[in-house]
Amino acid sequence: MAQRLNVTLNKKPCYDIVFSVGWEDLIEELKEMELGERKLCICTDSNVDAIYGDALLEKISSVCKKAVKFVFPAGEEHKNLEVVKDAYRFLIGEGFDRKDVLLALGGGVTGDLTGFVAATYLRGIDFIQIPTTLLAQADSSIGGKTGVDFDGYKNMVGAFKMPRLVYMNFETLKTLDDRQFFAGFAEIMKHGIIKDSEFYEWLIENMYEICERDLDVLSEMLMKSCIVKKLVVEKDPTEQGDRALLNLGHTIGHAIEKAKNFELYHGECVALGIVAAAFISWKKEMLSMEEYYEIRDMFVPFYLPISVEGIDPNEVLRLTKSDKKKDGDFIRFILLKKIGKAVIDTSVTDEEILAAIQELYFDEEAND
Ligand code: GLY
Repeated sequence: MAQRLNVTLNKKPCYDIVFSVGWEDLIEELKEMELGERKLCICTDSNVDAIYGDALLEKISSVCKKAVKFVFPAGEEHKNLEVVKDAYRFLIGEGFDRKDVLLALGGGVTGDLTGFVAATYLRGIDFIQIPTTLLAQADSSIGGKTGVDFDGYKNMVGAFKMPRLVYMNFETLKTLDDRQFFAGFAEIMKHGIIKDSEFYEWLIENMYEICERDLDVLSEMLMKSCIVKKLVVEKDPTEQGDRALLNLGHTIGHAIEKAKNFELYHGECVALGIVAAAFISWKKEMLSMEEYYEIRDMFVPFYLPISVEGIDPNEVLRLTKSDKKKDGDFIRFILLKKIGKAVIDTSVTDEEILAAIQELYFDEEAND
């Protein structure tokens, strides 16, 4: 039996997040939307297409006028305007008009890119998020942030565009390799660390079942995690204030992602960025030393990195300062007062950032 959460926009119901196992409930949701006269386009990457593309295309064909599939190469390096242009050309070729609908089937890259195409094609058409990675289910599919990278800058071009529906099929979590699966935990832990210490404790208590991918525990975990995200984005949909707290770990995280040439997953870089933000918080005497070490060590059983090799800390500092999360000349850092309480801080100095990056840096030569 599917469970659901409704996300509001300006206090009015906006879209449902449906938690389910299998695709049957998705077909029922699409039937309810009465899409009989509309065309649907599944947008997906080459990896996800190989697993679910054709089967899902066949299933959705029964509920719409015509169903097609736009497939692009997998990987963050393809989250760019060239692929967006390819998508526009594909949709024009298939005669998509304003009443037609896109289905973003995949991880964060697919959701962000498809959402941006939906926000801009014909000045906006409907889209549905069908996140298939833990990271996309916990974070990127919710809240309407869409966009692509530009000239190496993460998410530099984008738009807010709310989906019509977010549909999570937890079976998809079983097909993720371990690295991809655990990368999603950085965003889940982030929700506990910024807003909900009880959820953070729950994650520790349920660590074994989570690592074993027990579907009941994963579904409870995602419900709890999505409630935190939902409450934040409902209060501040366009990031004028508190939504920025969701960026914990993303400023230094994005810089590491770029410095490592996207070799590390986004979630892995967010884990490193959270460790760095907690370190800065400790050094600024906002967070206790015990909580800094607790946060850092909490990533280890979930196979997330807490150190990184092959970077130049000064280069990461430069990239951190060029990230888009700025207020004028100041970087808008998210720091921690305690587990469950994050704050926005614009007073972090270059020396404090560099010290945090050096703390993460694992120098292979020095450790030979
Ligand atoms: N991933 C951060 C946000 O949705 O605001």
